[in-house]
Amino acid sequence: MIDEKLIRKEFPMLSNPPLMQGHPLVWLDNASTTLKPQCVLDAVSSYYISRTSNSHRGDYDLCYSMDVETELTRKAVSKLINCSPNEVVFTSGTTDSLNRLAQSLQYSLKKGDEIIISLSEHASNVLPWFQIAKHTGAVIKYVELQKDGLITLENLRKTLSKRTKIVSLAQVGNVLGQIQPIKELVAETHKFGAIFIVDGAQSVPHMPVDVKDLDCDFLCFSGHKICGPTGIGVLYGKYKLLEDLELNSVGGGMNDKFYLDGTIKPSKAPAKFEAGTQNLEGILGLRAAIEFIMKIGLENIAEHEHKLKKYAVERIKELGNSVIYNADVKSGIVTFNINDVFAQDAATYLNSKGIACRSGQHCAKLLNDFIGTPATIRASFYFYTTKEDIDKLVDAVSHGKEFLDAYF
Ligand SMILES: Cc1ncc(COP(=O)(O)O)c(C=O)c1O
Repeated sequence: MIDEKLIRKEFPMLSNPPLMQGHPLVWLDNASTTLKPQCVLDAVSSYYISRTSNSHRGDYDLCYSMDVETELTRKAVSKLINCSPNEVVFTSGTTDSLNRLAQSLQYSLKKGDEIIISLSEHASNVLPWFQIAKHTGAVIKYVELQKDGLITLENLRKTLSKRTKIVSLAQVGNVLGQIQPIKELVAETHKFGAIFIVDGAQSVPHMPVDVKDLDCDFLCFSGHKICGPTGIGVLYGKYKLLEDLELNSVGGGMNDKFYLDGTIKPSKAPAKFEAGTQNLEGILGLRAAIEFIMKIGLENIAEHEHKLKKYAVERIKELGNSVIYNADVKSGIVTFNINDVFAQDAATYLNSKGIACRSGQHCAKLLNDFIGTPATIRASFYFYTTKEDIDKLVDAVSHGKEFLDAYF
């Protein structure tokens, strides 16, 4: 059980909320980014106040302590997703992780090879594959979605072929919040000898994720969506695959030696993917965030969000003035529209009541035709979200037709 009232005291933006249009902030945009507890703020600022130095660059104590901190954060990530610390590469976020993977994997693709994604993917899990398909002649294929956005084994089977080299799918969709049966999809993909990449941006912060159990080859997530700082993220890869993966960024810190003839002798993974000065304050903050989240418990977080989701759906349905696109999905995302009100007008109205919700296409621009609307409002919850937050949302939605008031 989560005592969200107690937890909220740890978040400056919840215990002392900024005013939005004269109302204390109601934060319901957690799928976009999450608020930060004081321990994360302290960890980040400690780097600038008393710990500034580089890692892997010097023989004095401060520098060495940053090496130690970096490895401790790798260990924290490894506990969070159940892998070895040396399978954790630091990046700047999910987008960076996916781009870097695509950059590296392009060298293994030939004309006519296939990459499978779905219509519900975030731009970050579409555009890097578009780019490398353009350069290599590989073909993008879309696995069919059920009405609720889920991918069945049957549908994946129909899409896989001997030419499939990569399957890259989000574990939790960022619009419909659907939770894909990743373990089964991975097993099927491996039968075809292809690699499976999990976009974990919306799953790792919200539910237990065990990469060993899933048997996925790579997984990406962002620090800022798990109460950590912006600009830090993770690329997990099975160690053998990381060892064999081509370099995607080169410079200081990732090589053991380089030679006049242009040969680079890369360091062992994960260091070979961490060129240049790393985001050290981000690394400190990420560990604080992971430790904070793990104390609360990922099972508890998932249960809390699901309870809130059910409550929000029931209350919005009672209003009778909205359409909900993902009522039955068991994650903390409610995607809806108020009848006859354009999503962005509705979100502007919610803003006038101090409520932060996302509206539009949520960077999943291939999904609109599939769900049959050009834009939606998305309210997304986290462990610190309360029923009172949802009551405020529902109250505002009940007056949604008055959206023009927001403009005057
Ligand atoms: C499913 C999914 N993938 C990728 C991303 C990109 O994450 P970031 O902007 O942190 O790189 C997001 C962000 O919302 C997302 O929801």
